[in-house]
Amino acid sequence: MTSLRERAVEVLTTADGRAKTALSRAHAADWDAARTAGTPIPLGVAPPPDRPARPDNPPLVDPRDVPRRKPGSPEGRIAILHAIAHIELNAVDLHWDIIARFPQIEMPPGFYDDWVRAADEESKHFNLVCDRLEALGSHYGALTAHAGMWRAAEDTAEDLMARLAVVPMVLEARGLDVTPGMISLFERAGDPETVDALKVIYAEEVHHVAYGTKWFHFLCGRKNLDPKDAFHSLVRKYFPGGTKPPFNEEKRAEAGLPPDFYWPLAG
Ligand SMILES: [Fe+2]
Ligand SMILES: [Fe+2]
Repeated sequence: MTSLRERAVEVLTTADGRAKTALSRAHAADWDAARTAGTPIPLGVAPPPDRPARPDNPPLVDPRDVPRRKPGSPEGRIAILHAIAHIELNAVDLHWDIIARFPQIEMPPGFYDDWVRAADEESKHFNLVCDRLEALGSHYGALTAHAGMWRAAEDTAEDLMARLAVVPMVLEARGLDVTPGMISLFERAGDPETVDALKVIYAEEVHHVAYGTKWFHFLCGRKNLDPKDAFHSLVRKYFPGGTKPPFNEEKRAEAGLPPDFYWPLAG
């Protein structure tokens, strides 16, 4: 049977977004079915690529060269959706990467359940956002996209605790801060289908932050570290940009992230 980490590498090395997410969802369904049947898929070992495969389009450019459009215009809303699709595709790869990247660190099966589920949800998000782009006459690949998205993964490739601190607990938590503003933007634009898609994403992103805080605390407990101090020192080392208010304190709390974790990092 193909191991979970081999499956993760299959997803990471698939370039096309719709193909990548279809494979991701199929592997997630297989993992769940096997866990439920009591015959789990073996974890195996399969080294992930340094960077995931990406389609030829969108061209990846420096964030300063991603053109800005008025958020109130139809083109502006398409640009926002395009940027979200790019983030979701990157998130699919980030969750499969954390599954494949750290085989030397033994983790309970629930760690894999959580990241497989997160990868499955990101795959759904990518497809939801691509469907909206296509309904609005565009598609993923029609614009340019942020080239620096994999940077956090590369910076934390040697340190699972740093990966958890930076990716779910800083970057995905940031998603909780900004999504309500995007939902109101599409509400004002009279686009209820996009509002519904963003609400699904908003609800599910809380889980991903929560998985991050859960497994970060687990590893701190294993090493007898103070979680707050460990979080601060890892974010300062691996993500010196820190965190930026305003914070969505309610959703961050729901995800197990208390204010004394992120406020001291707000520059
Ligand atoms: Fe997502
Ligand atoms: Fe996420």
